[in-house]
Amino acid sequence: MQLLDGKKISEEILSEISDEVKHIAARGGKIPHLAAIIVGNDGASETYVNNKIKSCERVGFRSTHIKLDANISEEELVQEIESINNNPDIDGLIVQLPLPQHISTEKITQLIRPEKDVDGFHPVNVGRLALGLPAYISATPNGIIEMLRRYKIPTEGKHCVVLGRSNIVGSPISILMAKNSYPGNCTVTLCHSKTQNLSEFTQQADILIVAIGKAEFIGADMVKKGAVVIDVGIHRIPDDSRKNGYRLVGDVKFEEVASKASYITPVPGGVGLMTIASLLTNTLKASKKEVYFKPGFFS
Ligand code: GUN
Repeated sequence: MQLLDGKKISEEILSEISDEVKHIAARGGKIPHLAAIIVGNDGASETYVNNKIKSCERVGFRSTHIKLDANISEEELVQEIESINNNPDIDGLIVQLPLPQHISTEKITQLIRPEKDVDGFHPVNVGRLALGLPAYISATPNGIIEMLRRYKIPTEGKHCVVLGRSNIVGSPISILMAKNSYPGNCTVTLCHSKTQNLSEFTQQADILIVAIGKAEFIGADMVKKGAVVIDVGIHRIPDDSRKNGYRLVGDVKFEEVASKASYITPVPGGVGLMTIASLLTNTLKASKKEVYFKPGFFS
């Protein structure tokens, strides 16, 4: 069994981005600039956004961190986004989710200009991804694809079974794994909460991508020997033996599945760490106007 090491790969990507930014700066080019909006003070969201801003600093990007009160009106948020949409100095914009109840996530997601939508949540980007056109791909599916690519995992003709059909992981990764280029060309089965006899499908998977949101749901009996296992889940489990009182686990029972898998992502230290690398990659592309102005992004 070999670990798919998200820490190592994401560090590699950050260091490549940082080198490219140095070259851009040396020739007097435009330094990539990400704006991140957070509404309210949800602790987990604050941590995520702080980490995104810190990573921008690490690779030499410029960043604008906009913190808005939880009681801000939808109209005020709309104006903030429109002002960033129209600001040529800002290349990428993310609005951290979830938003407070009184603000429509759908409306806000659709307001961000597709060419600045480095989260890849806008319907234009999702639709372009489905059509195989240049698009911003959201952080987790992009991170999984990059991990498979960097570990040179063979995918052509393999049976890829995806668990979970969310808009931001299960659906896009199932489209990407089926597309006609590497990593892709898989036969894809998309399983979800209404799938019957789930084990029959998971046991057939050469590549098993688990984004089901249930702690340690997948055991060794559900996995084929030699499978590549990608675990997207992350859960806090109470653990009195730890100083902080909890440990992190994924959707997969790591120890027992690792002994059967050929490759597996750990939790933590797997897919999660790839997401910021994906966001920064998208922001760099946005600043170079790569996605919307250069054909062949997918090839
Ligand atoms: N909330 C949880 N994950 C994400 C993400 O990738 N982007 C944004 N904008 N919000 C999130």
